[in-house]
Amino acid sequence: MPNEWACKEDTMSIRDELNRLDEEMEKALGNLDSLTALEALRVMMLGKKGQLTAMMRMMGQLSAEERPQMGQLINERRERFTRMLDERQQAMQKKERELRLQMERLDVTEPKPLPEIGSVHPNTLVLNEVVDCFTGMGFEVVEGPEVELDHFNFELLNIPKNHPARDAQDTFYIDDNVVLRTHTSPVQARTMTTRKPPIRIICPGRVYRADEVDATHSPVFHQIEGLVIDEGVSMGDLKATLAAFARRLYGSDIHVRFRPSFFPFTEPSAEADLTCVSCRGKGCRICKGTGWIEVLGCGMVNPHVLEMCGIDPKRYSGFAFGIGLERITMLRYGIKDMRLMYEGDLRFLRQFREDVKEG
Ligand code: PHE
Repeated sequence: MPNEWACKEDTMSIRDELNRLDEEMEKALGNLDSLTALEALRVMMLGKKGQLTAMMRMMGQLSAEERPQMGQLINERRERFTRMLDERQQAMQKKERELRLQMERLDVTEPKPLPEIGSVHPNTLVLNEVVDCFTGMGFEVVEGPEVELDHFNFELLNIPKNHPARDAQDTFYIDDNVVLRTHTSPVQARTMTTRKPPIRIICPGRVYRADEVDATHSPVFHQIEGLVIDEGVSMGDLKATLAAFARRLYGSDIHVRFRPSFFPFTEPSAEADLTCVSCRGKGCRICKGTGWIEVLGCGMVNPHVLEMCGIDPKRYSGFAFGIGLERITMLRYGIKDMRLMYEGDLRFLRQFREDVKEG
């Protein structure tokens, strides 16, 4: 029976082939190093053009009795191979995921260099002290615009057009009626026109003058305006208020003295000097041997100004003062050159960090 023999022969070769496939499968699984390689192996074994599928095709050559037996063997391989590949795939995916989690792990407790802590500008430190001092005496902080109407910066302060006092202020004009404010006094003018006495305010802010830049001058600097209006306010109140301010900022041995001066919006007007904060009055280079340093302009609000702002000068009187913030900051910290305060050099600014500043 040549046919039967031939069938036996085919059966043998299919069995051999299946055994060979088993081995190949074992070996290939052992060598797998990636999920891509695993997919390639799956295609090679089980795909449409894969080895097991090719063997299914060979079954046509077998006899009717042998076919189911071989078919069963091949199907058993298909199931087993599928299971092996799936298990392996799951194991590899799990490992890959663990590896990724490991790599992406964040240690939230790991110490990190701290971000650089900024410092409060010395001008702001001193301004805070000044505000503290005056609010403690019942003053309120009021602010106004830096781009100001000529009307408030000059007219209402008794400085009409063509008045020589305008030249002294080196004004930056925006147009005929608008200026960069040359002082904080327009805020007192604005307040007097909108409020009724009693008024007790300080007005800190930036001011502008077309000035030289040197150790004591800058075209942009800061002033703190003070204004008190009530019945019976006197020059004595002004002096006592300024003395309290000077003691608070520089110590209890600091005194205030007045020298006559002139401002169009105050009458009488004065320059206020403080005991030199460097030599405490003995005389040194800073006070040019006099024992006194000049720190602010002040005076009794000119009755004409009160009237222009709608306040009755027969009933009310008031005092005003204008402090140069940079000047008192420089005195407070012994800063010799005003430019240091605007250059933003960190070596300068770091010295004012809260944690390194001495009381
Ligand atoms: N505004 C004046 C100036 O800038 C200072 C000043 C304010 C004087 C208030 C008297 C009263 O020079």
